[in-house]
Formats: sequence, structure tokens, C-alpha cells
Amino acid sequence: MSDYALLARQLEPLLDTHDWLTNAAQTCAFLKHEISDLNWAGFYLQRQPGTLILGPFQGLPACNPIPFDKGVCGAAATTRRTQRVADVHAFPGHIACDAASRSELVVPIIHDGELWGVLDLDSPRPERFSEDDQRGIERLVEIFIAASDLSTPSVTG
Ligand code: SME
Repeated sequence: MSDYALLARQLEPLLDTHDWLTNAAQTCAFLKHEISDLNWAGFYLQRQPGTLILGPFQGLPACNPIPFDKGVCGAAATTRRTQRVADVHAFPGHIACDAASRSELVVPIIHDGELWGVLDLDSPRPERFSEDDQRGIERLVEIFIAASDLSTPSVTG
């Protein structure tokens, strides 16, 4: 079981810039390394309305783009609520980027009343994420949001 109070104390000093890109890269590297049984940890960003674009991540190359009406990430973006899926095979519309993934936790990231993006964690173990994990990861996402300037425009093609 992860000690999320400790992980929060470790993540805070790691995010020592306001640059969201650097902080996002650091956050997903930290999570992938520190949290057991993850095969993917990363960000999708709303860089075009209604579409999630792949951001910094750790793991295998992933699906891109993801429209808001598709997958667990899309459900998190649409509802703006964390999606904790015990068995991705039972989730209608789940996008299988990696066939090894069996459970998933997706936390929405809100900035200025808009959906900025989501943090997505995948596990090869069914029911990997408990309510404690959800609360702990949501707290780590709050730390990422507080540390980062999410208003900096990012260049889109
Ligand atoms: N499984 C996700 C897609 C993203 S990957 O897991 C990295 C989904 O259904 O939204």
C-alpha cells in the first residue's frame, strides 16, 4: 500500500518550477516509479475543444487523440469526476492502448473552470485502485495543479 502522505511530501519539492510541462513530466515519472503495479502513468491535455491530446507520460506509446465521448479518459473529461475502473473490460468504450491494462484511475484537472486535462494511471492488476488510492492520487494532482502555471498557452498545430 502506498503512503500517500509521504508521496505528497516528496512530490512537492520535486515540482520546483511553475512550468506545467516540466512538472507534468516529473509527476508522471514519480508516480510510475513510486506506485506499484502500474504499466502506464501520464497526462492527456485538452489542447483542442472536446479532444484530449497525449501529454507527458511513462509507459508504452499510447492512443492519441481521445475525443471526450470515448474511453475512461473521455468519461473523466466529460463528467469532471475521477473514474476508478476495477475492470476495464467491463467499461463500455474503454480504449485498449495496451492489452495488459486491467484497471484504471483517471483524475480530471480543472483550471479556471475549464477542463485542462486528465491524469491517467493504468494497472495490469484488476481492482488495483482502492478508495484510498483515489484520494491519495487526487491529492497528488492537487499538488501538481498548485505548483503549475496552467494558463501558459501551449502551441498547437
Ligand atoms: N484506456 C484509456 C486510454 C488511454 S490509455 O490507457 C494510456 C481510456 O479508455 O480512456
